[in-house]
Amino acid sequence: MDQKSIKREQWSTKLGFVLAAVGSAVGLGNLWGFAYRSSQGGGGAFVLLYLLVVLVVCLPIFVAEFSLGRGTSSSAFIAPIKAAGKNWAPLGWLFLIAPLGIASYYAVIMGWTADIFVQSIFVGLPLNTEESSSLFSTIHSGNRDFIGQIFSITLAGYIVSGGISKGIEKLNRFCMPILFMILILLAIWAAFLGNSVEGYRNFLFNFDIKQLTNPTTIRNAFSQAFFSLSLGIGIMVTYASYLNKTSNLPKQAFQIASLDTAVGLMAGLITFPIIFSFGLGETISNSTIATLFITIPSGLGQFGAIGRIVAIAFFGLAYIAAITSLISLIEIPVSALIDKFAVKRRLASIITSVCIFILGIPSVLSTDLLGNIDAIANVLLILGGFLVSFLLGWVVPKVMDVELENSGSSKSTRTYLKFMLRYITPVIVSCGLLISLYDLLKTWTS
Ligand code: PHE
Repeated sequence: MDQKSIKREQWSTKLGFVLAAVGSAVGLGNLWGFAYRSSQGGGGAFVLLYLLVVLVVCLPIFVAEFSLGRGTSSSAFIAPIKAAGKNWAPLGWLFLIAPLGIASYYAVIMGWTADIFVQSIFVGLPLNTEESSSLFSTIHSGNRDFIGQIFSITLAGYIVSGGISKGIEKLNRFCMPILFMILILLAIWAAFLGNSVEGYRNFLFNFDIKQLTNPTTIRNAFSQAFFSLSLGIGIMVTYASYLNKTSNLPKQAFQIASLDTAVGLMAGLITFPIIFSFGLGETISNSTIATLFITIPSGLGQFGAIGRIVAIAFFGLAYIAAITSLISLIEIPVSALIDKFAVKRRLASIITSVCIFILGIPSVLSTDLLGNIDAIANVLLILGGFLVSFLLGWVVPKVMDVELENSGSSKSTRTYLKFMLRYITPVIVSCGLLISLYDLLKTWTS
């Protein structure tokens, strides 16, 4: 079938688009990633660097990705070629490999989340760290991993097969308000815990100035910013390709980045009080994603019936946040298959889901492998961010000019964004990329 004869789908409203992009951004990265990265890299120093990266680097890249998607009306796989020719095909490939890689282990972590959610409803919580560790080993024992992983991929694949407005947009419109409500209630509950102040102190005010130059903290800040905002991976390119020409891209980028950052901070205001109120501070200091699956349930387990209700709310919240992110990861390869090979959406969703399942097998078998794939994927996102900023700042600046003209934003906003994308963002993001690569290699070789 001729590609042109298929009418491109569109978001039904601007709010629907913003909610879908927020849905992609807000995910396990906000709930687990923020907590474990900030506890690795000195709390407040990490948070400060993270905020700087979001403001100086990520916002301009956000608008650049939106412009690339809307300007070319193409999925992320072919948008770089359409904008700048065949030489930019590798960026399209990066936009295919990175989402598949991330989705592969993301679905596994979602499986763990679903498992503890079900466990909290029907069985109850572990009462101490030993019980919690053995529960996690059972959850993570092969077969149970697969059940959670397959369930999550199938659910997300099914929603994506429903299309942009009837699948992705509909789910986000339903889920996002629920997510914000639960989040606020949990943050209020956590504020009244015995040691909440100690938790906040470790999260935000434990400010060790030396951490600002520690390569691991810098890598964590860059990784967290790109991962959490779903940037450098082609999602915002793809989502913007379904936009009409009238929406104000800088304003929407700002709204999405602010909401995502607020959720990350609020999640810290929940997890840190829980961890410190139950004397689990030491377990978090060399934390990984997996540790949080042991720490949080055992913390809440000490809190009786209320702890159990909070666990149901917290893991339910995490799952809702994750499903709206997984669908965005699946949408990128799906839209590539539709645009490039005119495959039907349903078939494209099935093919992508099967690939993600197969690629996820190593992560089911080993949490170390999962951690390594996560580390590599995060560096790929920073690389993607650098290439996008270079492409729209230097190679085809016209694409962004036109989209900014169309977007109805003020002249000063446009000038600021163009200046940043040309002179500041690529420089800083390339430093971030080099430091992250150096730090990753150092951890692997030490
Ligand atoms: N932003 C999502 C999160 O914070 C994860 C994600 C990364 C989703 C990259 C899509 C692309 O969990």
